[in-house]
Amino acid sequence: MNRQTDYHSGLDDNILNPLKITILDFNRFFIRDFLQRINIIPYYFKYYHFLFHFKLINLLFYLIYHMKKIILATILIYPLVLLAQSIGVYDLRTEQLSNPIGLDIQKPRFSWKLMSDQKSTVQTAFEIIVATTPDFNKKSIVWNTKISTDQSVYNVYSGNRLLSNTSYFWKLTVWDNHGNTATESAFWHTGLLNNEWTAKWITATAPGDTSHEAFPSPMFRKEFNISKDIKSATLFISSKGLYEAHINGKKVGDDYLTPGWTSYKNRTQYQAYDITQMIKKGPNAIGAILGKGWFKGEVGWVKNAGIYGTDLGLIAQLEITLSNGSKQTVNSDGSWTYSYGPILNSEIYHGEYFDARKIKEGWSASGFSEIWPSVKLLSDNTSNLIGSYSNPVRKHERIKPIELIITPEHDTVIDFGQNMVGWVSVKASGKAGTVITISHAEVLDKFGNFYIENLRRAKETNTYILRGVGEEIFEPHFTFQGFRYIKVQGYPGNLALDKFEGVALYSDMKKEGVFKCSNPLVNQLQHNIQWGQRGNFVDVPTDCPQRDERLGWTGDAQAFSRTAAYNFDVQNFFAKWLLDLAADQNQDGGVPHVIPNALNPRSAASTGWADASTIIPWNMYWIYGDTSFLTRQYPSMKKWVKYMEDSSKNYLWNKGFHFGDWLFYSVADDRDGRSAVTDKYLIAQCFFANSVQIMINAATVLNNASDVHYYQDLLEKVKAAFRKEYVTGSGRMISSTQTAYVLALEFDMLLPEHREYAAHLLVKNITDYNYHITTGFLGTPYICHVLSKQGYADVAYKLLLQETYPSWLYPVKMGATTIWERWDGIKPDSTFQSASMNSFNHYAYGAIGDWMYRVVCGIEISAPGYKKSIIAPVLSNSLSFASSSTITPYGEIKSEWKTDKNGVDISVEIPVNTSSLIKLPTINMSKIKSNDINLSNANAIITDKTINLNLGSGKYTFHIESEIK
Ligand code: BGC
Repeated sequence: MNRQTDYHSGLDDNILNPLKITILDFNRFFIRDFLQRINIIPYYFKYYHFLFHFKLINLLFYLIYHMKKIILATILIYPLVLLAQSIGVYDLRTEQLSNPIGLDIQKPRFSWKLMSDQKSTVQTAFEIIVATTPDFNKKSIVWNTKISTDQSVYNVYSGNRLLSNTSYFWKLTVWDNHGNTATESAFWHTGLLNNEWTAKWITATAPGDTSHEAFPSPMFRKEFNISKDIKSATLFISSKGLYEAHINGKKVGDDYLTPGWTSYKNRTQYQAYDITQMIKKGPNAIGAILGKGWFKGEVGWVKNAGIYGTDLGLIAQLEITLSNGSKQTVNSDGSWTYSYGPILNSEIYHGEYFDARKIKEGWSASGFSEIWPSVKLLSDNTSNLIGSYSNPVRKHERIKPIELIITPEHDTVIDFGQNMVGWVSVKASGKAGTVITISHAEVLDKFGNFYIENLRRAKETNTYILRGVGEEIFEPHFTFQGFRYIKVQGYPGNLALDKFEGVALYSDMKKEGVFKCSNPLVNQLQHNIQWGQRGNFVDVPTDCPQRDERLGWTGDAQAFSRTAAYNFDVQNFFAKWLLDLAADQNQDGGVPHVIPNALNPRSAASTGWADASTIIPWNMYWIYGDTSFLTRQYPSMKKWVKYMEDSSKNYLWNKGFHFGDWLFYSVADDRDGRSAVTDKYLIAQCFFANSVQIMINAATVLNNASDVHYYQDLLEKVKAAFRKEYVTGSGRMISSTQTAYVLALEFDMLLPEHREYAAHLLVKNITDYNYHITTGFLGTPYICHVLSKQGYADVAYKLLLQETYPSWLYPVKMGATTIWERWDGIKPDSTFQSASMNSFNHYAYGAIGDWMYRVVCGIEISAPGYKKSIIAPVLSNSLSFASSSTITPYGEIKSEWKTDKNGVDISVEIPVNTSSLIKLPTINMSKIKSNDINLSNANAIITDKTINLNLGSGKYTFHIESEIK
């Protein structure tokens, strides 16, 4: 039976996700802080974080912890503590991770967040003590620093050289400007900092012809004995292909699709797991199953398997520290054995074939009696192995079916009500040998039949053969599917909906953003944007999750990157992917269309796609305030700009292949030229300029004055060449499309005297299309921004709220639950767009989310990482309410507005240790009321449209009385 434990229970979530600060957490902080100060907390209680990652004792500690809290809270302490004004520190992170294991960074950076019930709170100083024991005894201290600074993010460790495979504990104390102090602790466990791999790569002799499509998953095992009690044990593991590791019969960790997808030849990630609780004194066993994954399986729409290699491989190094301090290592080597079991084939695109009759009971536990042949050693070395710090793929939402459908073609179909990515967990009882097939689809066709043509070659089918031992539970291992519907064949007995459950799998990015407003269709759009991100952030940012593609398309990723960062924490996700981008970048600077590059190296250097190399590092730096995005990526960014310079003549880049404004509005009968075709080289020149501008910005941040000069000069020339080639003397563009005007305005390509005219022509174009959007992937992210910046917010709102094709809400009206690849994936007459390219889960057009957060609710960054922000909501008569929040590196920022006949209510929340410029939409000071601030002392600045207040952290509400009564 294929049982998998789901560790992602709500309980774990609450304990392990420090971002979910609830009222309980807030109170918990006060109580714990107080109790620590009066020293009545037992040792283990104070360091409960360190113990909590041992999941088996989670529940126990959770209960003890909360019981104590409840009892103590009801006695005097609770109200007393609540009365006291104080500061809290939470969400301690090492390299942006909470208590990471296997971090192979010699100088990790520490970040934390502050909470306070006092307004205008800033950190004034911090102290960090790093030690190798959780009691921070003197002998174990490796670094101790106290600095007067307000910097609470990315503080670099600069103590003694770190040792590999060692736990480090850090105790943080912070001081604020009101004289409060708070203390909290966290830890991290180092990886193999000096590549100390003693284990060998092992493989199995293939069962017959390796080129054959069906390739069973090899299983590896090794028994070992431990003579003493164990103090700690860490497993370092990686594979060529995907792995699932087991120890003593249980799956290790709750990650899936490990070791993830990278530019394998240059960078293959390993994972590290604390397995202290999984092994014991006496006999033990370790095992691992491998699947083809991206390494050996098919990747890309042209049938090509094994682009990284043909031999699947495993490397595992189990480092055990015994109670007497001595070490024992269990390495993958020639003494391991292998066999083949129930997974007869697995392919990311095609699904898994699992024959439960072939399960080898107890194969990863000690005392297993089958005799297996010895493994072969692979000659590969370990120099490309790197620790992982991106968010691993994990199970998230579990979705119950909503309907059982018998289609007109008599198929048995289950509807999950949500287009999602992951797989379906199936329970079934029946005779041994019963074959169940589960096929996946995103949509039903206009007649209600199961539609799979748009999956192209991807079979998206899992097959399970029953073992016949009561109720069996099936989930695949080395594949994932994009689907809303499944077709079930061969199900034994009564098919009840509760035997099926959709399991969403995606990179474990914490959810950060909320956007809601008074228009339910827009709320559904936001839902669709977030689900599009869930489904396409599966270790790499993919274009789509269902057909024979699922590749890291650079253009899609750059278009969506800002929206992505409002919705979820994507800092480490993009940090990892950008390193693969640099690793796979061509010698001449051309950036491949997809990263990791699974296509031909010549498939590179398309404008707007390759610019992912400059746009994303800059966006991430700006959003997270993390300069390392720029320092790490700078050489790659420079190389790409150099490529464009080298391909230009007189600074005009008008060569090469470009996707252009991909999937712009085009009509079948175009005799009157209604399709919104924008000259590709015009677009290329705009993106060229934008990337040069980013180089100026990045060089400025990195204090590289000579580069700043160089790129400033280049930028002038690139813009001049643009104007000469593409703009008429009066300011009309040679392509009179929305995208042409949008890019020219957004990237500041025009002479100042032509801007207003260009904005006018843009609006005219939009009204000519009766307020419909006609842009493709490259124009879409910017159109509403350009409109609102140019004073046409009303037109931007009309585009957002447009319900007929082409528009963002058209798919919503057609029942979409994710963002579609095309504006008209399903046409008004319910027929489909061309099956050859018609994904119903593609995030690029979801880039409008950025405008919803940044303009509708007005949350804008004004210093990197939101150290300073602007909150300037742009109200519209078409909405009566809008609210959004996101988690910045300093904590939650929030903006909300409501209008009625009495006026406008605006409430904002500014994170501790930051400040914000609030722009209230009135110029009449006497109309503003606030209980949170004395407005006469607030140094308000009145501009032509708004009243501006510079405020420190805290929550503020304002009422702006209506002018018309
Ligand atoms: C992908 C896109 C990608 C495009 C290149 C498509 O097949 O799905 O999203 O950006 O090719 O134009």
